[in-house]
Amino acid sequence: MKTNIAVLISGSGTNLQSIIDKTASGYLPANIRCVISDREDAYGLERARKHHVPAYFIDPKKYETRPAHEEALMAVLQEHDVELVVLAGYMRILTKHIIDRYRNRIMNIHPALLPSFPGTDGYGDAWRRGVKVGGCTVHFVNEGCDTGPIIMQEVNFIKPDDTFESFKARGLEIEHRVLPEAIKLYCEKRLVVEGCAVKILSGR
Ligand code: GAR
Repeated sequence: MKTNIAVLISGSGTNLQSIIDKTASGYLPANIRCVISDREDAYGLERARKHHVPAYFIDPKKYETRPAHEEALMAVLQEHDVELVVLAGYMRILTKHIIDRYRNRIMNIHPALLPSFPGTDGYGDAWRRGVKVGGCTVHFVNEGCDTGPIIMQEVNFIKPDDTFESFKARGLEIEHRVLPEAIKLYCEKRLVVEGCAVKILSGR
């Protein structure tokens, strides 16, 4: 049985593309039921439409409060019978309102090795700090900023001749592998949340 997922984006949607490609190839046992953006000009909306996935722009400015915006978002999730919500470059912090309803069913990819460098510029913050090891983290979303239970991490070693651009490009390639892998584990019901940790059950 395939898992119904929604992908939330704010921008280019290269992570969304990797999820689209890996569902199309059969690697991911998931149906992408809808893509939702908080920005009208997000290129990821185009990517979704190209693959005949329903794509929605839900404008936060049209709502007086964040929970009201999330209510509109949840109406779309319900309409599409979504079980797992994947934040793939969605640049808004969610409130308890939606998190309570989708507890341990909202997954986010962050471009740094959490708990280091949370926030909106993981690559920039890590690079400017001069780290020797960067990476990315997939975690379930809780009420904090990038503080939820960690599902997977992968490292991105800094090379002597790296520029910020080459560091970030390699980092994105890693993201495109790790996020689908974490989604796959969810679909296979192999993720068990234990406090702030996530245990991965072995496959059959
Ligand atoms: C990715 O690097 C993702 O990790 C990051 O935004 C980028 C989206 O790229 N997310 C965050 O920083 C969340 N705090 P994409 O639109 O090409 O997938």
